[in-house]
Amino acid sequence: MVALDTGNPADLVERIGALRRQRNAVILAHNYQRPEVQDVADIVGDSLAMAREAAKVEADVIVLCGVRFMAETAKLLNPDRPVLMPDPNAGCPMADMAAPREVADAKRRHPGAAVVTYVNSSAAVKALSDICCTSANAVRVVESIPADRPILFVPDASLGEYAADVTGRANIILWPGFCPTHHRILAEHVETRRAEYPDAEVLVHPECTRDVRRMADFIGSTSQIIRRVAESPKRTFVIATEFGVCHTIRRANPDKQIIQISSLADCPNMKLNTLEKIVWSLEDMRHEVRVPADVAEGARRAIERMLAVS
Ligand code: 13P
Ligand code: SF4
Repeated sequence: MVALDTGNPADLVERIGALRRQRNAVILAHNYQRPEVQDVADIVGDSLAMAREAAKVEADVIVLCGVRFMAETAKLLNPDRPVLMPDPNAGCPMADMAAPREVADAKRRHPGAAVVTYVNSSAAVKALSDICCTSANAVRVVESIPADRPILFVPDASLGEYAADVTGRANIILWPGFCPTHHRILAEHVETRRAEYPDAEVLVHPECTRDVRRMADFIGSTSQIIRRVAESPKRTFVIATEFGVCHTIRRANPDKQIIQISSLADCPNMKLNTLEKIVWSLEDMRHEVRVPADVAEGARRAIERMLAVS
């Protein structure tokens, strides 16, 4: 047997291919993953696409290259299949901004409110929710709640504010959470890029602040941004979200100029997954994600309601 050369990406890619066949595994990767991880994945997508794909997977094993809440969502939709996280430390700081006990307290303070929870949350918080949403369907999910019923929107205040702006609803109570990566993108970064590339279209993720969203030509989830670049007649695009998605966009649009908004728009958690760690997780079937039984049913119900609405 020839030893695996972990310094050689081609060797790692080959090894992942062999393990994928041996385990009958599928590799799902988020649009923010490292380029080489995206390139080895079977499916690359946004949070909504990953949830949808996880719901119809036929493989025996799921390797989830993203962050913990994505792996938990895949596990909730596949209770009988192992879902592996190549790096179990890949969390989401925004998800950590809403603790179940705090959400339960807020529900007591707003007894009539529908709890709409962004998928960037723990399974325990999802279990306290009426319905989940992603950045791709937040507006549609909010519109599915009767207009006179208040909404408690957890945990991303920027996404909740965006949904309130689009729908014109004044009865959305915003949880004070945010994405540190997207909040590092400032209006002055957009101004600088506009001056450098006056003909560019500026595409912004709704996790950005309202100051940045106001300057956008288009607002959408990572996959909606990718689709917009493909469909737009423009040649140059400024991408105001985590910069990993620039690889996905360039791969699909080699003739277009893709400019990342700022090198500060980096999610270190997303970058914890590497080719080596995918090999190790498949070899040893390690870092299997588990969702406690007492929250699984409620969390699954909130995700399934979201999938039914979108
Ligand atoms: P989307 O891919 O759903 O736009 O999500 C962005 C994000 O921050 C996921 O953590
Ligand atoms: Fe969480 Fe923001 Fe990273 Fe997405 S980009 S995983 S919301 S910290």
